[in-house]
Amino acid sequence: MTIDKFNFAGKKAIVRVDFNVPIQDGKITDMTRINGALPTLKLILDGGGSLIIMSHMGKPKGKVKKELSLGQIVDAVSGALGAPVKFAPDCAKAQEAAAALKPGEVLLLENLRFYPEEEGKPVGIEKDDPAYEDAKKAMKASQKEFAKTLASYADCYVMDAFGTAHRKHASTAVIADYFDADHKMLGLLMEKEVQAVDNVLSNIKRPFVAIMGGSKVSTKIGIIENLLGKVDKLILCGGMTYTFSKAHDGKIGNSIVELDKIDVALGVEEMAKKNGVELVLGEDSVCCTGYDFSTFSVKEGAKIKVFPSNAIEDGWDGLDAGPVSREKFAKAIEGAKTILWNGPAGCFECEEFTAGSRAIGEAIAKATKEGAFSLIGGGDSVACVNKFGLADQVSYISTGGGALLEAIEGKVLPGVAAIKG
Ligand code: 3PG
Repeated sequence: MTIDKFNFAGKKAIVRVDFNVPIQDGKITDMTRINGALPTLKLILDGGGSLIIMSHMGKPKGKVKKELSLGQIVDAVSGALGAPVKFAPDCAKAQEAAAALKPGEVLLLENLRFYPEEEGKPVGIEKDDPAYEDAKKAMKASQKEFAKTLASYADCYVMDAFGTAHRKHASTAVIADYFDADHKMLGLLMEKEVQAVDNVLSNIKRPFVAIMGGSKVSTKIGIIENLLGKVDKLILCGGMTYTFSKAHDGKIGNSIVELDKIDVALGVEEMAKKNGVELVLGEDSVCCTGYDFSTFSVKEGAKIKVFPSNAIEDGWDGLDAGPVSREKFAKAIEGAKTILWNGPAGCFECEEFTAGSRAIGEAIAKATKEGAFSLIGGGDSVACVNKFGLADQVSYISTGGGALLEAIEGKVLPGVAAIKG
């Protein structure tokens, strides 16, 4: 079934969205994910249906955590949707509230991950415990029950949580088993996201330039290796710069490093050479003697200075790409026809360290204006393009982080497979 063909009149639709949005001091700081789900939600309401919206927020690991309550986004969702939104404070006990919904009405369920059944992983038992396998089996059975309960609220199921489509959870995949093929479908956001990935994967216009940032090589190695078989140039920036510097005996001061991933870094360089991919690494870094990572601010009295990325003095922490690196990155992006960006070039949350990510964003915007298809994904890169006012100058902003990377790696997303088989 496709969402444009389904007749929602008089039907209750349970829709999995990804409203795992960033919140600071009780306020949503980036509405991208909520806005991304609106076309699907409005289509259902306009079609005469009622909505049961479900999502997770954060990683409460099966426990109720007030600070991760979806209750705090009810007003924002209602404002964005232009309709009142009721709230079910217990997602597994919302039968009555769901049954009472009339066409045009909306119910938002509390954070699904307050129940361990959502993720389906046994809690309080380690993998090496002899009882683990039994606990796992028992949890899988309760996960099915949990999914069945959620399914019982509605007549049809819509999967529109691209950001969580790489998780095989109760609400993203298992629930689909409780609906007939003609009563489950992907939402409009999912369709758009899958199309954008397809543009990058099967419709590559060259040169293809990928920019991977973020703090660790370890979390990006799968996608980096995969991209080395596809791209013409790969820019690696952010904290992982220092693992590469260290791999060549560079001095990196107090900068973040993964000493156990030095071989991985050298392997990436080797593979790039073998595949004829130009690997672009930063040469200089904006460093600081006192950065507070919890408040994203420079501590009082701390100094800021640019060092070569392989000659950073002790006591200094590399926090952004320096001027030489920024120019190098911009030049590498110039003339690209397909661009993928995931992960910032520095601690962009703090004004002093935004220049690297800004340079990348601006170069992408320029290349896009000249005809490139640019895909930006991952919360931080999306926050960057929004912060720099470049959101309308790139081709597509994905609501997915890990999901986008897995899709680009060519993996089948469980959330898609649950609907399409
Ligand atoms: C995300 O923010 O990437 C998605 O909401 C998925 O969250 P997760 O990594 O906690 O599953």
